[in-house]
Amino acid sequence: MGQARILLIVGGGIAAYKSLELIRLLARRGLAARVILTQAGAQFVTPLSLSSLSGDRVYQDLFSLTDEAEMGHIELSRQADLVVVCPATADLMAKAAHGLASDLASTTLLATDKRVLMVPAMNVRMWEHPATRRNVARLEADGVRVMPPDTGPMACGEFGPGRLPEPERILAEIEGMLTGPARSPPPCGPLAGLRAVITAGPTREPLDPVRYMSNHSSGRQGYAIAGSLAQRGAEVVLVSGPTALAIPDGVTAVRVETASEMYDAVSASLPADIFIGVAAVADWRPARRAASKLKLKGAKGPLSLSLVENPDILRSVGTRERQRPRLVIGFAAETNALDRHARAKLRRKGADWIIANDVSGDVMGGTDNEVSVYSASGSERWPRMNKSALADRLAGRIAVHFGRPGAAE
Ligand code: C5P
Repeated sequence: MGQARILLIVGGGIAAYKSLELIRLLARRGLAARVILTQAGAQFVTPLSLSSLSGDRVYQDLFSLTDEAEMGHIELSRQADLVVVCPATADLMAKAAHGLASDLASTTLLATDKRVLMVPAMNVRMWEHPATRRNVARLEADGVRVMPPDTGPMACGEFGPGRLPEPERILAEIEGMLTGPARSPPPCGPLAGLRAVITAGPTREPLDPVRYMSNHSSGRQGYAIAGSLAQRGAEVVLVSGPTALAIPDGVTAVRVETASEMYDAVSASLPADIFIGVAAVADWRPARRAASKLKLKGAKGPLSLSLVENPDILRSVGTRERQRPRLVIGFAAETNALDRHARAKLRRKGADWIIANDVSGDVMGGTDNEVSVYSASGSERWPRMNKSALADRLAGRIAVHFGRPGAAE
């Protein structure tokens, strides 16, 4: 790959020592690393060991006259092909998500126009805290790649997601980003200049650390729509529940598990011109998530679950008073009285179009779909077709709706 240059921001945390191994691996692949070390990072690794391995001085101070004279924060990112934050602490991610510029690392992240990879490492409770979930969703919606942390025993004695992935995996991710498509290929096509937010897949609502409630949604229809819109030049954010599908080219993905996380990720991704709710969002979640695995032993009689309602994402977007997307589309999966339910949903959810399908057969999780499209001006039945053909047809209709030239179906 030759001479690509990495700007490596080393945050604080017990995993910071692994950045030394990462620099070594990068050097072996001919990738030069220039290092910014945060104040917290310097509690865990020394500037001397980092600079011995990188063969360069280490940058630490935003207001140092010598640092700024030799290499200002703008120049640091200008000279890099990729910015990697490893380990990315909860604090650094929070700063970057909110655009704070209070030290050299956060200022550089705000000033950069290069692709950014964040490799988080933190205590499991910090990783799972709603604030961190929101920050990760915000960063992903901004186009930052956030590597999911490994799950396992942690230095703090707890078990769960939060461990820094092995340096070999981080290297593979870096190489993938360096050879992958550029951050913003010049958009062209009938939907260029429009931003679309799409939800897809199921949600998982945890009962305890090992069990959850979910549904059979595969995510195929939502992913196909995201891909079709991106192919036509739209900027697409795909907020996806757990699926086994590859992210379509040109689409920014935000991965979530629960309906509440999906709601937060969608809110963080707005404003947008188009919103399409394709996800099979769980209507309810267990009122409480047990801290440890629910046991059969000692249970007295049947277990009863108490469920509470999840936020309705489509309705919250469709009924927004400010910054409502210009086109809001929902899906309605019904097993009976399709027409009546679809029309009621159009009103209740504040949607412009409802795409209704009968899921009593093999649609959910299958490859084909047969839908009727409802709007204030009536309804139209589309023939049975596969989900990607349906996505193309819908993308064509959206282009026509926005009066875009060359908007062929
Ligand atoms: O009410 P129902 O679940 O049938 O509505 C389906 C539509 O509403 C889909 O577009 C789905 O993505 C969306 N929805 C949502 N949030 C929920 C439930 C459904 O966005 N909590």
